Formats: sequence, structure tokens, C-alpha cells
Amino acid sequence: MKHKLVIANWKMNGDFSSNFSLLKSIVAFADKPQNTQIAVCPPFVYLSQVYDLLESSPIALGAQNVGFAEKGAYTGETSASMLQEFACQYVLVGHSERRTLFKESDEHIAEKIKLAVAHNQTPVLCIGETLEERASNETQTVILSQIKTIIDKVGSEVFKSVVIAYEPIWAIGTGQTATAEQAQQIHALIRAYLRSLEPILFDEMTILYGGSVNENNADELFAQNDIDGFLVGGASLKAASFEKICFAG
Ligand code: G3H
Repeated sequence: MKHKLVIANWKMNGDFSSNFSLLKSIVAFADKPQNTQIAVCPPFVYLSQVYDLLESSPIALGAQNVGFAEKGAYTGETSASMLQEFACQYVLVGHSERRTLFKESDEHIAEKIKLAVAHNQTPVLCIGETLEERASNETQTVILSQIKTIIDKVGSEVFKSVVIAYEPIWAIGTGQTATAEQAQQIHALIRAYLRSLEPILFDEMTILYGGSVNENNADELFAQNDIDGFLVGGASLKAASFEKICFAG
């Protein structure tokens, strides 16, 4: 049975009361799905609450972003060392919402990855193509160049600590999931590309799928050879849906 990683990205959702009930439900089933690591990425202001509620549960804590510098005059940012104080194990980097809405550059993404790894966190590098890029048959080029750009900047030693999340932008929050075949095709491409670079470093790379994952499509997606788990947005806010996704396969 392959190992599975399922990460809940709450994005800018939640409050003290709904976080409490949602986590209570997740904690209740979290030790049951076999070979599955579950992680939750709440908004920063709730890290402390979630940290307390996850104590002595097998669920890992993650952050939705991290600052691109160690410390200093960076209003609104949160550093990797601060996240380390909350025992954050995962850090999302380069999510398309951050690349598009907050103009996050490849340089900043690379710095974030280096800092996260230096602070014992696993960066989850999000990559994906737009609908226009898919329509013009550029998906493969776009995906591989997103990966190569970051490897060139951080080096392969650091990159071996990264988890990749393939998230076609047209599938995020739209209800329009990539088909299992479409997702598998890109995951296989990513894995083959990484293996061609350095088989010893990248043989065991974890590659997640994200983009309208729900309780109805998770089984078929996870059945694909190269899909190792999910980065879940909307469906991670509903305990029953998230539970089924965690049990997928
Ligand atoms: O980080 C999660 C992804 O953006 C997917 O979001 O499941 O709401 O489509 P979604």
C-alpha cells in the first residue's frame, strides 16, 4: 500500500468556533486511515489555536506561506523560525493564489524553500498551468519549467526535501477537477523528469494533486500510480468530505 499525504489548506476561512468543531471531527478519525499523514494549514492567526487542538494527535500542522527572509522589516510576514516554534511540519510555497494575487516571484519562492528546509519544514511547492496554457498544449513545458526554475535556484540537495503539489489553475475552486488520466499524465511526467535529473535524490518524491478534490473523485485520483495524495481547499472545510478524502483508496 502506498503512503498517502493529505493536506488541508483552509485558505482564508475559519474562526475560533468552526476551527474547534472541524478539528474535533478530524482528530476523531485521524489515526484510522492506513499509511496516511494528514496535515492542516490554517490561517496564521489560528496557528496557536490549532497547535493546541492538535497536541497529541497524529495530525501535522502546516502553514499557508512563509516569509522570504530570516527576520526584519517585512510588514505582514511570518518567518520560518516563527513557524518552527509552532512545530509546523509543512509550508505551502508558490500557491497559484499567491503567485497571481500577491505577485510572488520565483526568487521569493526559492528563498522560502531554503528557509523552510533550514528550519526542518517540508515545503510544498505548488505548480500548475492556466486554462489558456492547457488549451495551447503548453502544459508540459510550463510545469517542467516551473520545477526547473526552482531547482536551479535552490539546488537539488535542498529540492529533495520538497513535496510537489500539481494544481492545474483551472481546477482550483472551480469544481472542474482534472480527470484521473489528465492528473496521472502530469504526475508521471513530473516523476520521470525528476528521475532523469537525479534518480537517487528524487526516486521517492511525493507528488500531490490539488484542484477541486472531493469525496467523489478522490478514490479514482488516488488509484493512479503517481498520485501520492492531495492538497485540498474547499472540501477540507467539511469534516465528512475531508474524512472520505483521507480514506481514499
Ligand atoms: O490548496 C488547495 C488548492 O488550491 C485546491 O483548492 O480544493 O478548493 O479547489 P480547491
